[in-house]
Amino acid sequence: MRYPAVLLIPIAVVGISFFIGSDTQSDQTEEPGAVLYAEFCQDCHGTNGRDFVGRTWKLGSRKKDLLRVMEEGYPLLGMPGYGATMGPEELDSLAEYVLQQAQKEKRFYPTAPRTEETSDLTIRADVIMDGLETPWGMDLTDQGGLLVTEREGRLWHFQEGVQRVVKGLPDDIIVKGQGGLMDVAFWTDNKTLESWVYLSYSKLHPDNDRLSATGLIRGRWEVADSTFRLADVETLFIATPYEKTHHHYGSRIAFGPDGMLYLTCGERGHRDTHPQSLESRPGKVHRLHPDGTIPADNPFLNIPGAEPSIWTWGHRNPQGMFVHPTTGEIWTHEHGPKGGDEINILRKGANYGWPSITFGRNYSGTIITRDTAMTGMEQPLYYWLPSIGACGLDIIDGGQWPKAWQGNLLAGSLSFEYLERLVLDQDQKVIHRENLLEDIGRVRDICTGPNGDVFVAIEGAGTVVRLIPLPKL
Ligand code: HEC
Repeated sequence: MRYPAVLLIPIAVVGISFFIGSDTQSDQTEEPGAVLYAEFCQDCHGTNGRDFVGRTWKLGSRKKDLLRVMEEGYPLLGMPGYGATMGPEELDSLAEYVLQQAQKEKRFYPTAPRTEETSDLTIRADVIMDGLETPWGMDLTDQGGLLVTEREGRLWHFQEGVQRVVKGLPDDIIVKGQGGLMDVAFWTDNKTLESWVYLSYSKLHPDNDRLSATGLIRGRWEVADSTFRLADVETLFIATPYEKTHHHYGSRIAFGPDGMLYLTCGERGHRDTHPQSLESRPGKVHRLHPDGTIPADNPFLNIPGAEPSIWTWGHRNPQGMFVHPTTGEIWTHEHGPKGGDEINILRKGANYGWPSITFGRNYSGTIITRDTAMTGMEQPLYYWLPSIGACGLDIIDGGQWPKAWQGNLLAGSLSFEYLERLVLDQDQKVIHRENLLEDIGRVRDICTGPNGDVFVAIEGAGTVVRLIPLPKL
């Protein structure tokens, strides 16, 4: 289309003045936002807001998001807060300046951080780590650092935005099928004040590379010159016999209020051999002293042939475990087959029934057993039909979470790629279920921190997300 020349002239004038305007602006160091930026921000974020041009924003890129981040800071990511030292006008001029620089990129458009509208609360989901392959297990150190395993055989320490690899891992991790490096737990010995890191993984047989077993090691936590390593690594437990299969390793680690270590071991795909036998280790939850020795009050010490570390039996593949903050009970959940993922509270010596009783069927749809109950076998606290592919389990406790959320369970779903909220009544009955973070990816682990922090590890996306309850406006 042709425009009359008279119409083009004003456009050209506006265009030129725009260029002149923006040129003088970026050189104009008197502009308060630019001055403040140069003084307070550019050491970390680069000159002229370089870090914000073409950025994939983590915490939102609307002006109000920037103001919030600058005011409060985000210690976990290493962003200091300026609310105490800068006034609203200074913060405002900084936000304007950063946005003005960011807008130089044509693709820039203001985006809100990811929020979730639940039935009774808005939650913000901040991505605090990304670029991971298959995050599997998480725990916090006594200094607030986040330890994250990747199934591929790496352990990370993340604090104040700095992600460092932890050295000194065992060299017999076999990454195959469902196996690899799995859970991590941090524990400090109250007597010696020494800290240890525990790892569970699929361990290669020393002489036969076709065989593996769930293994548990620990290493002394050593931090020197910003390097993290496990020293004096010792093997504490191997869930023998070694098997040829590469699935159902279990692998969650937790420390009970009794000072004992609990380790879940899956049945390795041998449901007719292990779960109902006290003479092998797969398909059980084991209880050990933190140094790997057997506690004198374990339930099966007097039964000839029984494995002395067994605490509970009849398990399929338990991959979620936490210690209840008020009752001190150990809660687990485990994968059922087609249907029948279940939540259990572990009781000394109890048999959870797999495969004699189950609410599930074979994956092919055929019957495993019609029995869902039997004397001498525990009923689950809850079971999922259909299975959600339950992985990772924790409980909301403290922090800014409203009352209705305190004591709620969070369970990951591998199959349906969401985080499930389960509300329990006083009799520990599940009275409400709700999907959070739908389509976020395979949710592998959930870890709660002492101040109510909730971290969620997501496979596929390769991220760790932090959930924050937002006050009702
Ligand atoms: C000590 C280093 C440091 C200083 C100084 C600093 N920041 Fe940051 N800031 C960070 C880090 C680290 C992050 C997190 C970045 C990440 O995880 O990708 C961050 C994040 C941010 C974000 C959120 C970005 C997003 O992706 O959502 C904004 C906005 C921001 N900073 C603005 C500022 C401004 C404005 C200043 C100056 C007043 C400033 N920062 C000073 C380190 C710093």
